[in-house]
Amino acid sequence: MEEVYHIPAMLEPTLDGLNIQPGGTYVDLTFGGGGHSRGILERMGATGGRLFSFDQDMDAYANRIDDPRWQFVHSNFRYLRNWMDYYGVMEVDGILADLGVSFHHFDSVERGFSFRFAAPLDMRMNRQQKRRAAQLIAEEDEESLARVLYLYGELKNGRRLANRICRSRAIRPIETTDQLVAVVLRGGEPPMALPTGTPIEVAPNEKKDLARLFQALRIELNDEMGALREMLCAARALLRPGGRIAILTYHSLEDRLVKNFFRSGNMEGEIEKDFYGNIVSPFRVIEKGRMADADEVERNPRSRSAKLRVAARVVPSER
Ligand SMILES: C[S@@+](CC[C@H](N)C(=O)[O-])C[C@H]1O[C@@H](n2cnc3c(N)ncnc32)[C@H](O)[C@@H]1O
Repeated sequence: MEEVYHIPAMLEPTLDGLNIQPGGTYVDLTFGGGGHSRGILERMGATGGRLFSFDQDMDAYANRIDDPRWQFVHSNFRYLRNWMDYYGVMEVDGILADLGVSFHHFDSVERGFSFRFAAPLDMRMNRQQKRRAAQLIAEEDEESLARVLYLYGELKNGRRLANRICRSRAIRPIETTDQLVAVVLRGGEPPMALPTGTPIEVAPNEKKDLARLFQALRIELNDEMGALREMLCAARALLRPGGRIAILTYHSLEDRLVKNFFRSGNMEGEIEKDFYGNIVSPFRVIEKGRMADADEVERNPRSRSAKLRVAARVVPSER
């Protein structure tokens, strides 16, 4: 069966939120399978306009769109401003980011994003990056591993898991997903690695924590929070007054960051108020954390954790 690269979450509400104008200039920061990008081009009408689609994973280029208005940018979206300067774009009408990984990442067993199959601990979204998850597991001290698991995986037992990892790696390096799963579930000496692609047996009640553990390591390895912060600052400068920004988040930490940024217009989430006590922000919030409806979750269970936030850049006269 042919692999489905990705099914975009909340496609229509996201496109509605972007309020796409014919002839406008748009940026899709997370191209992936291109579902959102294709939707943007369709709503832009038959001619005119431009769409820049970023992805740091070159695999996404296999989904390229044959349209003269479309430009692929193989880069981390933290360099949004530099790339727009390069293309001579001073302001844009809309920016979209559908954060995290695509189905393709989970389904490409050899990339080590999934705890369901044995594979080398890789987890790099950009395969030109040198550091892999195995190095992170080998090199981080126990304290910072515990912090990563707690913060990015919301694992209350992060400290215990980090301790197990550190004790086990002192006996033998943990280099594969199956070794990591065995170590966090049972502790002790890491078993010999299984051949890549071997299914990993785990009890149903162990899946949630394993998913969180893998998510936490992936976020840390790919510096996803750092990239999000830099991108939001660049987006604020690039969005024209009246322009829209739509962000789909998949875990609470990134969602909180986006929510506070839209409310306050700064990274610290510090609210500025005018003389009358009204919040002064460069953004007007349009969509406050919408979730996929039951029908969509049934059709696409991976949309369950998605949250959509949309904001408009305030037009100075609206202040
Ligand atoms: C959830 S998928 C996006 C799916 C897409 N909206 C679609 O319709 O198919 C996220 C994609 O963004 C890419 N990505 C994640 N973080 C990135 C970053 N900081 N810079 C550039 N691309 C990134 C991933 O490689 C992945 O392909």
